[in-house]
Amino acid sequence: MRRVLIVLAILLPLMLVGCVSMGLPKVSSRGIYDPARPLIGPQAVSLETWNGARAGLVQAFEREVYGAYPDATQTEMLDHVVVETGAFEGRGDIEEYRLAMAGRETYLVTVTPTEADGPVPTIILQMFCGNRAALGGRADITSSPNDPGCDPDSWFAGAIRMVFGRHIMEPPIAEILDRGYALAIIYPGDIVPDRSSSGLVALESMLPDTPSGAITVWAWVYSRVIDVLDADPRYDRERTAVWGHSRNGKSALLAAVYDPRVDLVIAHQAGTGGTTLSRSHAGESIAQITDSYPHWFSPAYAGFAGNEEALSVDQHQLIALAAPRPVLIGGAWRDQWSDPQDSFRAARSANPVYALYGSEGLRQADMSAYDPTADLALFMRGGLHGVQPSDWDNFLAFLDAHFQP
Ligand code: GCU
Repeated sequence: MRRVLIVLAILLPLMLVGCVSMGLPKVSSRGIYDPARPLIGPQAVSLETWNGARAGLVQAFEREVYGAYPDATQTEMLDHVVVETGAFEGRGDIEEYRLAMAGRETYLVTVTPTEADGPVPTIILQMFCGNRAALGGRADITSSPNDPGCDPDSWFAGAIRMVFGRHIMEPPIAEILDRGYALAIIYPGDIVPDRSSSGLVALESMLPDTPSGAITVWAWVYSRVIDVLDADPRYDRERTAVWGHSRNGKSALLAAVYDPRVDLVIAHQAGTGGTTLSRSHAGESIAQITDSYPHWFSPAYAGFAGNEEALSVDQHQLIALAAPRPVLIGGAWRDQWSDPQDSFRAARSANPVYALYGSEGLRQADMSAYDPTADLALFMRGGLHGVQPSDWDNFLAFLDAHFQP
């Protein structure tokens, strides 16, 4: 009974946020987005000035939002086993790697098309429920002591799926393999746990001298996966995508800022601290996110709560820092908590930087006119926060348009 009450306490407010916000007019952001005055300032006058401004912008994000990014460390492979060849009815080979990074251990699971004809494009996923759940609960996949324990057969997982969609914990692996992609799945909570107390302890021991946050360490974990993939000729170095939903979407976008080896980003419903503007009045505020998740950001970010105007950077610039690489932002009309309207504004405001590279960037006229062939795109669907089958149709359309045109 106690668990039922806990789950209801978690799920009901989320359902309510979606229902209450449905159809309500959007609270405007504080007039900061003026289409006649793009938010990207003079830095974007030429590619040269933009490149010159880039490092300063990254430092400002570190100082004000995310905290310090760990030093680049080569990932060490401690063990590698082939779990099954020809899994998913002959479609894919499953392998598991035990990795050490910055003195911590975690597991990476890859699923590679069995009949690949040359190096394949890869999608790196950080999943909320961990590797075992992502693979349908297989007992031969190591489950992390830190993951939320979403045993796919449990009533708990059933409830999560019911509210957040069929693919919230398990991507449609057979379909992804059929489209020619390999998957690399990792649970970043092994490196910094997604809990405020143990998360802060892990951050303190990992980066004792500088304030940091879990989002940026998780972004760094995407890069540690690329270390493994890039050493293996089965994976195409020019076609590496990072995917994340919500908190993991925040990290996926940030991964591209730091790592030029990221070729494409899918940040689904990434919201505050991700693709939407911190200075927006809609959706989750800085006060709310830093109060609930004190371990996600630098402590400095909480200092801008209620004083958002004082930020010297905002998330449109984070998107711009990924340019000219393809970035897809996913949203849902009843997921107003993640503020898709201001993600759209942020994306539009990143356009001047895409233009410097000769890309049109976001070229859709409105939020509904998803164009998967554009370098910067946003799609909307009905419903709430979560990962639905139609989301994966949209992700794969974007991946196909850029990786297998
Ligand atoms: C919470 C949080 C969001 C986050 C989301 C998620 O709702 O407030 O910022 O994106 O969890 O990760 O699902």
